[in-house]
Amino acid sequence: FEVPIAVNEPVKSYAPGSPEREEVLKTYKEMYKAKIEVPLFINGKEVKTKETATMSPPHDHKHVLGTYYKATKKNVEEAIETALEARKKWAVMPWEQRAGIFLRAAELLAGPYRAKINAATMLAQSKNIYQAEIDSACELIDFLRFNVQYMTEIYAEQPESTSAAWNRIEYRPLEGFIYAITPFNFTAIAGNLPASAALMGNVVVWKPSNAQIYSAKVIMDVFREAGVPAGVINMVMGDPEMISNTLMASPDFSGVHFTGSTGVFQGIWKKIGDNIKNYKTYPRIVGETGGKDFIVAHKTSNPKQVATAMARGAFEYQGQKCSAASRCYISKSIWKDVKEYLVDDIRSFKMGTPEDMGNFINAVIHESSFDKLASYIDQAKKDKNVEIIAGGNYDKSKGYFIEPTVIVTKDPKYTTMCTELFGPVLTVYVYDDNKWEETLHLVDETSEYALTGAVFSEDRYALEEAVKILENAAGNFYINDKPTGAVVGQQPFGGARASGTNDKAGSKQNLYRWISPRMVKETF
Ligand code: ALA
Repeated sequence: FEVPIAVNEPVKSYAPGSPEREEVLKTYKEMYKAKIEVPLFINGKEVKTKETATMSPPHDHKHVLGTYYKATKKNVEEAIETALEARKKWAVMPWEQRAGIFLRAAELLAGPYRAKINAATMLAQSKNIYQAEIDSACELIDFLRFNVQYMTEIYAEQPESTSAAWNRIEYRPLEGFIYAITPFNFTAIAGNLPASAALMGNVVVWKPSNAQIYSAKVIMDVFREAGVPAGVINMVMGDPEMISNTLMASPDFSGVHFTGSTGVFQGIWKKIGDNIKNYKTYPRIVGETGGKDFIVAHKTSNPKQVATAMARGAFEYQGQKCSAASRCYISKSIWKDVKEYLVDDIRSFKMGTPEDMGNFINAVIHESSFDKLASYIDQAKKDKNVEIIAGGNYDKSKGYFIEPTVIVTKDPKYTTMCTELFGPVLTVYVYDDNKWEETLHLVDETSEYALTGAVFSEDRYALEEAVKILENAAGNFYINDKPTGAVVGQQPFGGARASGTNDKAGSKQNLYRWISPRMVKETF
């Protein structure tokens, strides 16, 4: 059962003058001009249809990067058929061969495809190079490597046997196909959701977010070059409603691996409920959805450390991480200092296109997101009980740019303290120093979501209280650190309540969901 020991891919610096910086910039410029086409991938073939849509950089929305083809219902049905056909061989293929294919995919990303995957993420998702490197290239490489190791650890788990009875578990994939629905914000998640199910012997129909198709194509190219056989991972794009309805109406639908919004995930549960009598097997439902992630700072915490965590946790990738800090509870006695450091940090952030690597803030993903965020900012400008202490401006003439914005409210239940906005807007509530315990209860009571959260204090007793009271308020709980940036193999990621099924991405726990073991007892 020995495979190469998984190690985290080292993050490159992209410092001025470094070869990786030159290479990614050159690739970015070439891709900017290239005008690519993204076909559907069904049964290992590129499929072009009559209906297309264009792709543009969020920071330069008048420019066209290329087009993608939209699937018809017939294409989606073909994807199911072809996946089920491919399953006959893939499900019984020795696991070493599957492991080899995905380890090769990891090395292709670490080497020849690294500049391409990063440039694609910068261009089409408007992510700066440092974030792209961490959570597109390295995180996807890590998912692929660690999952191979976890797979072998699972396969090694066997029950006791006696000389008269040999008990063995066969770790079979699910009977049917898996539907992977992936988000725009992490290229790594887009690759991991189909790959982890396929690694365990399943066949997959994958629908990337319409806002991430450009880099999804690079991932699909990597999978094909690594040797994923025809039909094992099929990629279809287009009308999400039609695609989901078609796939989930199939009796062979055996599970969904999802990252996206809470509303869409709840719709999936409902659809599965409506179709439940038609399925051959109860489908596995694995999903990571939204977050309204918190930072709580005790009076004993270090103001500079808290301010840095707020600035990075809230504004990395324009706050478009499910893990992003979006509501903060700061003790009154440290607020003045925290505020000063925070406003200074934000002033130092430059905003613009990812091509200029000095820009920390790029554009938000699309116009509807921009409009929604702008309307919340406008509302805050009108509300007498809130104050905007940083940002507050926006402009969509060239790209969807929104300044990192900090709202301070006297009402801990103010709209932006409770609503998931998914953008660069942070709301702060300042609480009385002597109300630590009460504030922790308030945080828990207002945690409809429970994805990530961070607590800061130098006082061990205060930390222990937070750990206890916030027990169910965050699946990833950080002590004296920002709530973003989980690393595969170190901090398995996921949360419960409205944030998902908490099947921790990048862990054995997630892979268990993609197997349907058969227990065999043989007597002699
Ligand atoms: N894994 C991502 C993070 O922790 C979502 O920020």
